[in-house]
Amino acid sequence: MVESNSFFHYAKINTSFAMPDIIQLTNVHKAYTLGQLKQPVLHDISLTVSPGEFVAIVGPSGNGKSTLLNLLTGIDRPCQGEVIINGSALNLLREEQLSVWRGTNVGIVFQFFQLLPSLNLLQNILLPMDFVGKLPKPERLARAHYLLNLVGLSDQAKQLPGQVSGGQQQRAAIARALANDPALIIADEPTGNLDASTADAVFDLFLELKNQGKTLVMVTHNENLAQSASRRIALHAGRIHSDQYLTGEE
Ligand SMILES: Nc1ncnc2c1ncn2[C@@H]1O[C@H](COP(=O)(O)OP(=O)(O)OP(=O)(O)O)[C@@H](O)[C@H]1O
Ligand SMILES: [Mg+2]
Repeated sequence: MVESNSFFHYAKINTSFAMPDIIQLTNVHKAYTLGQLKQPVLHDISLTVSPGEFVAIVGPSGNGKSTLLNLLTGIDRPCQGEVIINGSALNLLREEQLSVWRGTNVGIVFQFFQLLPSLNLLQNILLPMDFVGKLPKPERLARAHYLLNLVGLSDQAKQLPGQVSGGQQQRAAIARALANDPALIIADEPTGNLDASTADAVFDLFLELKNQGKTLVMVTHNENLAQSASRRIALHAGRIHSDQYLTGEE
């Protein structure tokens, strides 16, 4: 039949151009040790994410969401299992290699912005570029201005973080996360500390990044925002409770 032939033709083309997974977790376990006590937090997590996906991670407080993100960024290491991000097996990298790897491959956005308070917004964005040294020095300033403009903060370049609003700080933090043009953006409740309309504006920025082909993994408590992602993973008691692809029409 014509339909089935064309289906197989399509499937074959799709497979031959399939991009490698940008996130690959295999049988990952994580426990924290507190004195004599070992507290398991993540149990046997296996997960792959393709380039360009926008994954929302949801789940009750204390169920391991931030712990999972910290494993993806190499901020923390699993007790067992393998974490491969953008082709790098993180367990093979030493701490100092990991910092440079992270600065190059991952942009991180936190709930409480975590901009350096003594540097102005422009300097905060220049910092990861100076650390990684991917761009020649003369091009860094132009890129920092480009990114400030992208997040609507051109007028605030010389302001210190303490002199601008929470929403503006978070937009600057997103610009900082984009400084080295990472393939992967990881955000831990980036709208958790913002009022509803500011949260919507910040979230729209993430949607724009998704439209530009970035891969996004975002922890959010906001179910409405989670529904705008392309995939929703619920973590319960350190396990993947559900993993759904969303159409965007729910
Ligand atoms: N550095 C740490 N040392 C010891 N225990 C920790 C550490 N970080 C987190 N935990 C514990 O691990 C469990 C999971 O924490 P995690 O921060 O990953 O949860 P979460 O899902 O992000 O919660 P929330 O929604 O409140 O941010 C909690 O019981 C927490 O107390
Ligand atoms: Mg958390």
